[in-house]
Amino acid sequence: NIPKYVKIVEVGPRDGLQNEKDIVPTAVKVELIKMLVNSGLQVVEATSFVSPKWVPQVTIKEAFIHNIIKMSIFCSFNGCQNSKLQLADAKDVIKGIKGISNARFPVLTPNLKGLEAALAAGVKEVAVFAAASESFSRSNINCSIDESLARYRDVASAARKLFIPVRGYISCVVGCPMEGEVHPSKVAYVAEELVKMGCDEISLGDTIGVGTPGSVIPMIEAVKKVVPIEKLAVHFHDTYGQALSNILVSLQMGISVVDSSVSGLGGCPYAKGATGNVATEDVVYMLNGLGVKTNVDLRKLILAGDFIRKHLGRPSESKAATALKKT
Ligand code: HMG
Ligand code: MG
Repeated sequence: NIPKYVKIVEVGPRDGLQNEKDIVPTAVKVELIKMLVNSGLQVVEATSFVSPKWVPQVTIKEAFIHNIIKMSIFCSFNGCQNSKLQLADAKDVIKGIKGISNARFPVLTPNLKGLEAALAAGVKEVAVFAAASESFSRSNINCSIDESLARYRDVASAARKLFIPVRGYISCVVGCPMEGEVHPSKVAYVAEELVKMGCDEISLGDTIGVGTPGSVIPMIEAVKKVVPIEKLAVHFHDTYGQALSNILVSLQMGISVVDSSVSGLGGCPYAKGATGNVATEDVVYMLNGLGVKTNVDLRKLILAGDFIRKHLGRPSESKAATALKKT
């Protein structure tokens, strides 16, 4: 029952690099995106138009009370002050990739201000990002879930008037660094609201990578009651090594859009326990094994991973890439 074709949404240049402590030069980001497209990836999330003044609302001390590993992950999100600087070149990244026509380059836009800046830069697709947990919503985007949905209604309606597709992310779909387990009904509520406002695709994010098929299946069951399965994507971080299992069960449930990050980019390099998204190479390797088409040339994808890892000076998190290079 697995789909014959899976659309991979490559999020490395955004979700991966947003956590890097040292600023990655715009030219390196642009070259990475070019290499990713050259490997056959048709959707590459390019960057994010977020606030440069953004300050975390929940202190690291508060997060520490919960759990040291969870705190580390939290730090990768909100404590690393560099992310706002890392993304300060959003419009230059878009300028740098303007000539590339055979792929789509969505960007994150947290509000109308972000949408306006993205549109001015020439962006053709955007994404809004809500959460299924109140605490995470407040810490990530400084407002409640319902306030964020109201804000996103304005973003979606403005975007749709211009025929700009809008993706809706939901973070913490199975677990939250502050609240622990998240009930599937909370995810279904946010997913339904995002679809009602006009989001074309809903990406279900296990932001801290705590999910297993045991928690992912009931969550997708709940969401698919209110959102057509064709509109759903999965977005797994691989902190506990569960991402591929979670992807496989998602495919078995009919989902055919998978987010991943080349070489498993992401997480805070100084925070033990925090990891990035599942590596795109590992996803492609598994899908190749299943006979599922992706349009991606694994060899070229590995070159893109090598390129960015060489720049960062840290080895790839992709097991498939590491193994294939030895053979
Ligand atoms: P706020 O402070 O409540 O916003 O932040 P504000 O409206 O009060 O504005 C504060 C200042 O920022 C103002 O400047 C605004 O103009 C400016 P001032 O008047 O003080 O000079 N500002 C902006 N500037 C540029 N671009 C903008 C923008 N917006 C406001 N778009 C806000 C609220 C949402 C803006 C802030 O909290 C924010 O930017 N948060 C982003 C957090 C973030 O980037 N998180 C990581 C991405 S989400 C993610 O990775 C999860 C995902 O991968 C899925 C998963 O794994 O679960 C998607
Ligand atoms: Mg993410």
